[in-house]
Amino acid sequence: MAPQGDSEVNAVSFVLNGEEHTVSPPAVPLDMRLVDYVRYHVGLPGTKVMCREGGCGACIVVATAPDLGGGGTRTFSVQACQLLVYACANWQLETIEHLGGRKKGYHKIQQALAGFYGTQCGYCSPGMVMTMAGELGRKGTVTSGEVEGALDGNLCRCTGYRPILDAFKSLAGDGAPALKQRLADIEEAYKTTCPRTGQPCAGKLSDGTCRSQAGTTGTTAKDGTTTLGGTTTTGDALADARPSVTAGKERWFHPVSGVGVMNALKMATPQDKVLLVGGNTGAGVFKNDGPYTMFISLAQVPEMQQVNIAESPIKLGARLSLNQCIDVFRSVCEGPKAVAGYGHLKEMADHWQVVANLAVRNNGSWAGNLAMKNRHKNFPSDVFLTLAAIDAQILVANAATQQPEQHPVLEVPQLDLRGKVIVAMLLPPLPAGTRVRSYKITPRAVNAHAYVNAALRLLLGDDLTVKEAPRLLFGGLGEHFVSASNTERYLIGKRLSDVSVVREAARLLAEEATPHPDPHQGSPEYRRSLVQCLFYKMVVGVVGGSPRVRSAGDKIVRGLSSGQQSFDETPDTWPVGQPLPKIESLVQVAGEAQFADDVPLAAGELHAYFVQATQACAAIDSVDATQALAVPGVVDFVTAADIPGKNSYFAMDMFGPVKPDPVFAVDRTLYHGQPLGLIVARDRATAEAATKLVKVTYSDIKKPVVSIQEAIKKDRLELPIGWDGKPASSVVFGDQDGKGLMEKASHRVKGKMEVPSQYHFTMELMTARVMPLEDGYDVIATTQFMQETQKVVAEVLNVPANSLNLTVRRLGGGFGHKVSRCNLSACAVAVAAAKLRRPVRLFQDLRTNMSSIGWREPYYASYEVGFSDTGRLEAVAMEVYSGVGHVPNESTAVMASNIATNVYFSPSWTISPQNAILDTAANTWCRTPGHVEYIAFAENIMDHVAAELGKDPLEVREINILNIADEKQPADGGPNVFKTSILPVLKEKAMLEQRKLEVEQFNRENRWRKRGLAVTPMKYPYDYPPLRYGILVSIYEQDGTIAISHGGIEMGQGMNTKAVQVAAATMGLPMQQFIVKPTSNVTTANSTVTGGSFGSDLVCQGVKLCCERLKARLDAFKATQDPAITWPELVKKAILADVDISERYWPNTSEFPKGYTIWGGACVEVEVDVLTGMHVIRRADVVEDAG
Ligand SMILES: Cc1cc2nc3c(=O)[nH]c(=O)nc-3n(C[C@H](O)[C@H](O)[C@H](O)COP(=O)(O)OP(=O)(O)OC[C@H]3O[C@@H](n4cnc5c(N)ncnc54)[C@H](O)[C@@H]3O)c2cc1C
Ligand code: FES
Ligand code: FES
Repeated sequence: MAPQGDSEVNAVSFVLNGEEHTVSPPAVPLDMRLVDYVRYHVGLPGTKVMCREGGCGACIVVATAPDLGGGGTRTFSVQACQLLVYACANWQLETIEHLGGRKKGYHKIQQALAGFYGTQCGYCSPGMVMTMAGELGRKGTVTSGEVEGALDGNLCRCTGYRPILDAFKSLAGDGAPALKQRLADIEEAYKTTCPRTGQPCAGKLSDGTCRSQAGTTGTTAKDGTTTLGGTTTTGDALADARPSVTAGKERWFHPVSGVGVMNALKMATPQDKVLLVGGNTGAGVFKNDGPYTMFISLAQVPEMQQVNIAESPIKLGARLSLNQCIDVFRSVCEGPKAVAGYGHLKEMADHWQVVANLAVRNNGSWAGNLAMKNRHKNFPSDVFLTLAAIDAQILVANAATQQPEQHPVLEVPQLDLRGKVIVAMLLPPLPAGTRVRSYKITPRAVNAHAYVNAALRLLLGDDLTVKEAPRLLFGGLGEHFVSASNTERYLIGKRLSDVSVVREAARLLAEEATPHPDPHQGSPEYRRSLVQCLFYKMVVGVVGGSPRVRSAGDKIVRGLSSGQQSFDETPDTWPVGQPLPKIESLVQVAGEAQFADDVPLAAGELHAYFVQATQACAAIDSVDATQALAVPGVVDFVTAADIPGKNSYFAMDMFGPVKPDPVFAVDRTLYHGQPLGLIVARDRATAEAATKLVKVTYSDIKKPVVSIQEAIKKDRLELPIGWDGKPASSVVFGDQDGKGLMEKASHRVKGKMEVPSQYHFTMELMTARVMPLEDGYDVIATTQFMQETQKVVAEVLNVPANSLNLTVRRLGGGFGHKVSRCNLSACAVAVAAAKLRRPVRLFQDLRTNMSSIGWREPYYASYEVGFSDTGRLEAVAMEVYSGVGHVPNESTAVMASNIATNVYFSPSWTISPQNAILDTAANTWCRTPGHVEYIAFAENIMDHVAAELGKDPLEVREINILNIADEKQPADGGPNVFKTSILPVLKEKAMLEQRKLEVEQFNRENRWRKRGLAVTPMKYPYDYPPLRYGILVSIYEQDGTIAISHGGIEMGQGMNTKAVQVAAATMGLPMQQFIVKPTSNVTTANSTVTGGSFGSDLVCQGVKLCCERLKARLDAFKATQDPAITWPELVKKAILADVDISERYWPNTSEFPKGYTIWGGACVEVEVDVLTGMHVIRRADVVEDAG
């Protein structure tokens, strides 16, 4: 039912997970997105959220909507972060919870993802699963290629795509037999899924019974198709004159005809801001276009979904999605239904296939895209460019004049579309001899806007003469440039096979195409050269050429990927070391795994949002929140003045003295984006909107220093703290007289290298929730370091440490991001909760997450190398700068320098490290912090030496790899495993010699395509610092089940699974007997940071020692009993005999395992299109000595 258009109804209905939902204001605001509705209104947190801009896929749900053009319904995946709740009228929606789960049984797609080890932290997993469910629903069956294409909008930041793609390709019609067999095995295993735990049954407990008696047997849902309840209804034609939902001045219309759309548009007053609602995906690109007062849904207007290919020109309705258009294009350009004059639509289909991502293309309309181009002239729209190139026209209805209008798409940027709606497009056939080519040059292969895009059309005679004015259209150059009209005019009547014509055309193009400077785009020079190169590509594509140049005409295409993994297995240690799905993988793929923001809202809970500085290095003259506080629902504005204790969220002094890092700015801002305070409101959207009303004035604004080079120029350098806790001016490996050796060297070169900063990009963003209690606070925070979070929150609130209860169930990725930077949100929210005495939550969005806290440290090195005629190193001297941000608290310049030599030997290797102080947020550790940079510098030095001597870079590397017979490594003195074990294997497996020849031949034969093959070694010395994790293992006397609580943080690395494997092996019990509890500062107080890959090893060691002690006690007791006693009976009797059946372990660092060195190597082959810079990784081989 609904929308009824009856203003008394004032509601919209749809079916969600088989149940009818009727939504109305004020409970559901008119601009609410579906993701917020399902997560916070319905309480279905399985659908995750990250980017809120349609780019990451975490929020994918499956929709089934009436297909008013083709009849029936169509099913597709869609981003819930874009979809407006009221746009879902008459739709059927399915979230991950309905697809499958612990209670009803896991769906085949979920089983596949878990069974193929396709999850780590699991934050992306529900979105991955729903994308596949939608695609199977849309197509019925998919090919392996379509599986790869379907995941173009789903990011995973931890697992790597190989297992995810393998999992889903096992469901593909043409999936490899080995994958299909593996899927069958997985399904077989999950047939015996435990109804209580959702885990596959792996045997009985030691007493012979199954411990899971309760619950229902799960049933596997049908493959592929969605199983949605409810019925589809059509709208009411009478509704067209009236809004279907109103809330104050805001109105929703759900017209069911074009006339209805006109009627609605006519009701708009000059004060109204109107959104014609297609897929609302435009909100993902231009976030500040709203807020709107009038929403007119186009979903129920039949003429806007019509496809007419029977007549010429072809007519396509405005509410057709990009994917629906692609299907039409493919059907008319080739095959049995091909229509004469439309062969060029293949080029269009291929181009649109790389517009946005699958879910955007599923619901985003072409008309919405053109309207975006109309409003934002800078938008490098592929849809606009390609349609304009083929002379498409649009039909526009004008509400005021009631007169239909027809316009060439090329005129879209100039049209006045106010009070109008695009109704359809007309695609004319093109005469024989027309060549259409289009290009999109992007920073990534998929899901990226173009640096420069081009759509080029030429009508050529048999002698390759340009017969009429061509279309040479380019995007990404600025709002005023679309058409290279001078060049177009020049080309008329010219022969394209004439080299001088091509040269002159390229010259003219460079003259008229003048890209605007834009820091988000490539440099203007690069983009201008792209314009010329893309024209050249087209010419070569059309005219052909010698075999050597012909590759210029082709596009780089990423073929179907495949991957293989092999490793040694040691069954005698199993379950330790046994390859198993993670114990949480099924709950992860079903959206049942709880992350910080999935914790249900408490009564009276408030939401916070940061107010951030828009000026760096400025005096704050005033902060006026009056207007924000007047917004209904806003409760307070919290600032530094409300902090009862210290205004700093950093206290990690284990490496030496630290400097304060303020929670909220006071007097002066230190960096752009620094939090000035928190708006606290009844809901997140209100809090976010109100922050924009806080007025801040600044004075004495200084230009911030944001790059290392600037910091060097301004002498904003400090010595970093060395391993001895004192400032270190140098680190030397080998001979101390590096200078002397350098002077004596046969060759010397100087160079420099920069490794820029990097956003950590955890899929789960920073989240904190603090709840006041009678004796303190409950703190939930996305922290890798609970002890530090406890410390700084206590200091900020000025409360004792024991008044804080911290719990971490899991993190959706950590990567160092959540070691210390998480404490900004934890401390800020704690201040608000303490002030208001109410629970307060802050779930940061991508923008604030990226701008309020620091990233990976950028690095810069300048170096001098002395070397022999053969390329052997004689001395290396490096000045290394780490861009630490405004305080040097987490510099890695010295800490990581132990890796500087990588696998190489130089008689002397001198490093002079410096911290560069920047006016940015304090940077922090990220995935092998500093080490990656130091290895990159060492490898760059190898390449530099090779280039200088004109030698093969691998040869130079091999010469410098330590000779274990007579030399020792500077760092640990052990044998060089890379040389003895890794490189030979890599050479053989990667077929290095053979492929080198192939690459050389390819490069000789292709002028505009080049391949490169590189071998990169890795050495990572690993030793255990004094990191301590408490362990508590408790056996329950009731049934003998066991709970493990450890002080590590599970963030996708599989720590919990490993802990259970170790516990099961030590106790001699099945893994199903164990469960791992959330990390808590009560059971495992004072545990240190989980990071640097130390956590799993040390937690497992602690669990082992704990379990050994428990087992020893129980074995001793068992010796006094009947040998046939079952485990539960034993436990019951033991406790009655005063045997303690819990055990706690606190590490003694002297018991830590011995450190070791991790060795690895990679061989990667890359192909690059020299004309554009687009590239593809053709093959990567990685060999690692994993222990
Ligand atoms: C992550 C992401 C990546 C993207 N990448 C690309 C890309 O690579 N290349 C590219 O070209 N585009 C890209 N886009 C843009 C995408 O193609 C558009 O967002 C989509 O086509 C808009 O369609 P919609 O139906 O969702 O429009 P909506 O978001 O619903 O509407 C957008 C605007 O169009 C207006 N409008 C909608 N329908 C009509 C109509 N019939 N008549 C008049 N005005 C109308 C609305 O009022 C609104 O102002 C990307 C988008 C996202 C979110
Ligand atoms: S795509 Fe919706 S949250 Fe990222
Ligand atoms: S498992 Fe994909 S983001 Fe962590």
